[in-house]
Amino acid sequence: MIPDLFEGERRDVPLAPGAILLGGFALPFEGPLVAALGRVVERAPFRHMVTPGGHRMSVAMTNCGAAGWVTDRTGYRYDGHDPESGRRWPPMPDVFADLAVQAAARAGFDGFAPDACLVNRYEPGTRLSLHQDKNERDFEAPIVSVSLGLPAVFLFGGSHRADTPRRVPLAHGDVVVWGGPARLRYHGVMPLEPGHHPLTGGHRINLTFRKAT
Ligand code: SIN
Ligand code: FE2
Repeated sequence: MIPDLFEGERRDVPLAPGAILLGGFALPFEGPLVAALGRVVERAPFRHMVTPGGHRMSVAMTNCGAAGWVTDRTGYRYDGHDPESGRRWPPMPDVFADLAVQAAARAGFDGFAPDACLVNRYEPGTRLSLHQDKNERDFEAPIVSVSLGLPAVFLFGGSHRADTPRRVPLAHGDVVVWGGPARLRYHGVMPLEPGHHPLTGGHRINLTFRKAT
C-alpha cells in the first residue's frame, strides 16, 4: 500500500497574515475529543436551522459553551439557550477548550478564551457558502476551526466576497486559526465528497471556537 503522506500530516501552513493551518494539531486530543462530542450531541442534538431568508441549512448544527450560534427567521445571533430544548447549551468540555486555547497560542494568539463552540455536521453533497464570522461582539479574538472525520476542501477567501478563495484541503485532525488582520476573511466549504471515516462514519464534523460575547 502506498502511504498517504497528507493524511494527518503535522505541518504548519501559513494561509495569510493572521491565518494558519495547523496540520494534525487535534490528533493527540482525538479520543477524549470524540467522546466529549458524543456527550454534547446527546444533550443538544444536531438540527437543521433556518436562515432569516427561510432556507433550511444543509449543514446540521449544535453548540456547546456559554453562548451558541443560532439562526432563525428573525436573524443570526448568539443565544445562551438551545431554542429546541429551552435549556442552556451543554458546557464546553475541558478537552474542547484546551485544544482551542493551545491551537490559538500556537498560531500566535495567546490568552484565547472561547465561550462558544459551534459544531457543524456535513454529509456528502453538503457545502457551506462563503461567509464572514461577524456575529461576535468584537473581532479581537481569533476563530479556531477543528476538522474531524471525512476530508473537505476549505475555501479561504479575502476581505471581499468576490476575492477568489484559496482551496485548502483539510483532513481529520487539522486545525485552522484565523484572527488579527485575517479575522474577517470570507471562508466556506466545498461540497463534501462521499466516504467513510472510522470515527465519524459518512460525515465531516467541524468545531469552530469563538469568543462571542
Ligand atoms: C464555519 O465556517 O463555521 C465552518 C467551517 C468549516 O466547516 O470548516
Ligand atoms: Fe464561519
